[in-house]
Amino acid sequence: MGPLIELRNVSHKYPDGTLAISGIDLSVNKGESVAILGPNGGGKSTLLMILSALLYPSSGTLRFFGMEIDRRTIDRPKKMFPIRRRMGVMFQDPDVQLFSATLFDDVAFGPINMGLTEEKVREKVMRTLRYLGIEHLAEKHPYELSGG
Ligand SMILES: Nc1ncnc2c1ncn2[C@@H]1O[C@H](COP(=O)(O)OP(=O)(O)OP(=O)(O)O)[C@@H](O)[C@H]1O
Ligand SMILES: [Mg+2]
Repeated sequence: MGPLIELRNVSHKYPDGTLAISGIDLSVNKGESVAILGPNGGGKSTLLMILSALLYPSSGTLRFFGMEIDRRTIDRPKKMFPIRRRMGVMFQDPDVQLFSATLFDDVAFGPINMGLTEEKVREKVMRTLRYLGIEHLAEKHPYELSGG
C-alpha cells in the first residue's frame, strides 16, 4: 500500500476569496510523524481540516488510505466511514476535546459512534486505558487530570 495520506497540488480559497493554502504536495506514510510549522494565518488549520476530511479543498487531489476522494465522496457518510473511523483530531485545548463526565465516557465516544455494541465499547476503552497505563483513572472527571 502507498502513503496513508496523499495530497497533490492542493489549494484552498475560502468563499470570501482568501487563499489559505496553495499548491501543497504532501505524503504521510504508515508510522510517520509529521509536524506542520508556519506563521499565524499560514494555513495550518486549513490544511489540518483537509487532512481530517472535514473540508474539501477548492483544487487538487486527495487520497486517504489509497482511496481517491472527490468532492462528492466527502459528503457521503457511508463511503467516508472506513476513512473517518481511522482518523482523529486531538485539539490543543482540552476544554473543546474532553466533554464527558468521566474519562471512560470520553474515550467511549468514538467507539460508540462507530456503532459498536456496549460490550465491545467497554472492551476497547479498557484496552486503550490499560495500554496507556491509566486504567485506574477511568471513573475520574477529565478536569481532575493533569494537563499532560
Ligand atoms: N473560514 C474562513 N473564511 C475566510 N478566511 C479564513 C477562514 N479560516 C481561515 N481563513 C484565512 O485563511 C488563512 C489561513 O488561516 P489558518 O487558520 O488556516 O492559518 P493557521 O496557520 O492555522 O493560523 P494560526 O497559526 O493563527 O492558527 C488566513 O488568512 C485566515 O484569515
Ligand atoms: Mg490554526
